[in-house]
Amino acid sequence: MSKPGKQPDPEHRAFFGRRSGKRLHRGQKTLFDDLLPDLEIHLPEQGVIDPATLFAGHPDRLTIEIGYGGGEHLARKAVEQPKTGFIGCEVFTGGIGKLLKAIEADNLQNIRLFAEDAYDLLTRLQPNSLDEAYLLYPDPWPKTRHHKRRFISPTTLDALANVLKPGAPFHFATDIEDYANWTLAHILRHPDFFWPLTEPGAWHEPYPGWQPTRYEQKARKEGRLKSFYFTFLRR
Ligand SMILES: C[S@@+](CC[C@H](N)C(=O)[O-])C[C@H]1O[C@@H](n2cnc3c(N)ncnc32)[C@H](O)[C@@H]1O
Repeated sequence: MSKPGKQPDPEHRAFFGRRSGKRLHRGQKTLFDDLLPDLEIHLPEQGVIDPATLFAGHPDRLTIEIGYGGGEHLARKAVEQPKTGFIGCEVFTGGIGKLLKAIEADNLQNIRLFAEDAYDLLTRLQPNSLDEAYLLYPDPWPKTRHHKRRFISPTTLDALANVLKPGAPFHFATDIEDYANWTLAHILRHPDFFWPLTEPGAWHEPYPGWQPTRYEQKARKEGRLKSFYFTFLRR
């Protein structure tokens, strides 16, 4: 298990992804200048962040979504669960801009954003502080030589286990069978997670409360008709 406040180890983790796409249009730039500073999480020089202190009032529950893309799933969950504090991690500026727009449009008060590698935040959150986590359609990195870039690894699972409370669900979805197998293999080997017994094939059924994401819709359009939905539990 990782230690609280442990710094990312560059030997074990490098971020591979796309940070910026098309230039931000004027409306998005205004949101980046005016709204993001109120919502953005910055890592302190030292020590850990108690995620409950990021939110006004006292959230009943704390949830993280890693790689929220355009934030459609995160924004819908935040509307459904106004008493939950949601931490969204995304590095792609186009995606951050979309979520900022939704936050403004729906006046959502219960979302905070981390705009760097989610792993860096996981290593600096107070241990045993989160009630739920989502990793939905992570970048599949299909080539074998790129598998080490996948978000799921022993190192990131250590960091995630460290911040989740005992019994907390970790939801994972992908349309890529090889990534589903990869994730199961890593979870089954990890001492701090388990996969509750599921009927064979039930992993193709979305779990209760599932909200389709943009990448799921993209997969369906491209003819990938089945996804894998897993809910693992923190021991
Ligand atoms: C394939 S997209 C899926 C987006 C969304 N979850 C969906 O289902 O529509 C994966 C997203 O994860 C983000 N991402 C990848 N690695 C990340 C990391 N280490 N920290 C934060 N975001 C990350 C990427 O920028 C990308 O937007």
